Amino acid sequence: MGIKLVSATRYLPQGKLTNSDLEKMVETSDDWIRQRTGLVSRTMAGDETITDMAIKAARECLEKIDREIIDKIKLLIVTTASYLQVVPHVSAAIVKPIGLAEEVLAFDINSGCTSFIYALDIVEKYLLKDKDQYALIVSSDKLSDYIDYTDRGTCILFGDAAAATLWAYEEQNEQIAIHKTLTAPDVLFRDGDYINMNGNEVFKFAVGNLPELISDVCRKANVDVSEVDLFLLHQANGRIIESVAKKFRSDDNHFPVRFQNIGNTSSVSLPILITQMIDEDKLQNARNIIFAGFGAGLSLGVILFKGIN
Ligand SMILES: CC(C)(COP(=O)(O)OP(=O)(O)OC[C@H]1O[C@@H](n2cnc3c(N)ncnc32)[C@H](O)[C@@H]1OP(=O)(O)O)[C@@H](O)C(=O)NCCC(=O)NCCS
Repeated sequence: MGIKLVSATRYLPQGKLTNSDLEKMVETSDDWIRQRTGLVSRTMAGDETITDMAIKAARECLEKIDREIIDKIKLLIVTTASYLQVVPHVSAAIVKPIGLAEEVLAFDINSGCTSFIYALDIVEKYLLKDKDQYALIVSSDKLSDYIDYTDRGTCILFGDAAAATLWAYEEQNEQIAIHKTLTAPDVLFRDGDYINMNGNEVFKFAVGNLPELISDVCRKANVDVSEVDLFLLHQANGRIIESVAKKFRSDDNHFPVRFQNIGNTSSVSLPILITQMIDEDKLQNARNIIFAGFGAGLSLGVILFKGIN
C-alpha cells in the first residue's frame, strides 16, 4: 500500500543570473563555479513572490485534472524556506486562486531543502488512511530575497522556482522512509536579512551520511541497491551527487544532475527533478526510486518508492 504520482509541473521564472554576471559582482570565476558546483546559471524570480510562483505551478499541475478529482484534494502542503511574511501561511493564500475546495487541510513546511521529503512522507501516511482523497504538494522557494550578493560562498549557489505534484493512493506501491536530524543551528541559518551558510559543513554532512542512509533504506525495503532505477538527490551541488554516485559505482544515468541552469532551489529541486525525469521518459519505466533531501537543521531524509506510477 502506498502512493502514486498523478501530475507534476515546474515553474521556472524568466530571470537569469549567469556565472559571468557573478564574476562582475564578487571575486569568483566561471571556472571555479563550474568545477565546485556544476552551475552555469540560475533562474531569478525578480518581482514575483513565492506565492505568485506557487500559484502558477499549481494551476498548471491541475489544468489537466478532472474537477471531481480536484474536489477530492483534501491535503495541501506548501514547502518553502523563503517567507516574506510568516503569517498567514502560503498554503492558505493559494487555496482559492488555484481552485481547491475550502474543506482542505492546508499547511506549510519549512525545513529547508529537506521539506519536500517530509511532505512526501506525510502525504503517504495521510493517503493510507483516507484512500479516496488526493494530496497536492506545492513547492516554492525564492532564496534570492535572502542572499547577500557580496558573499561569494552563498550567492553562486541558489536559484528561484516553484513546482507542484499531485498524489493519490495506490495499492500496488510502497514507500519506505528514513530521517536523520542534528541540532546544528550555526551551520545554515538566516541572520536578519541574509542566509549565512558554512557550505563545507553541509557538504560533508551530505556526503558523509547519504550513502549509509541510502543503504539502510534499501535494506529496510528488502531491495538491493543494484535494483534501484533512479537516485533522485537534492540538487544542491553536482559534486555532492557525483561523490555519492561514486560510492555506489554509479553515474549520471542513475544519479541525475539537472540543475546546471536552474541553481539550488532548496525545497523545489526534487519536484523539478521529477518533471525533468518525466521529460526524459525515465520516470515512466522506473520501479524503485530513491528520493533524498538534506540541508538546514541539519536534516536529511531518504524515501524509497517501490513504484511511483
Ligand atoms: C558552497 C560550496 C559551493 C563551496 O565549495 P567548497 O568546495 O566547499 O569550498 P570551500 O567553502 O571549502 O572554500 C574553498 C576555497 O574557495 C574559496 N571560495 C569560496 N567561494 C568561492 C567562490 N564563489 N569563488 C571563488 N572562490 C571561492 C574559499 O574562500 C576558500 O578559499 P581558501 O581555501 O583560500 O580559504 C559547497 O560547500 C557547497 O555547495 N556546499 C553545500 C551547500 C548546500 O548544500 N547548502 C544547503 C542548502 S541546500
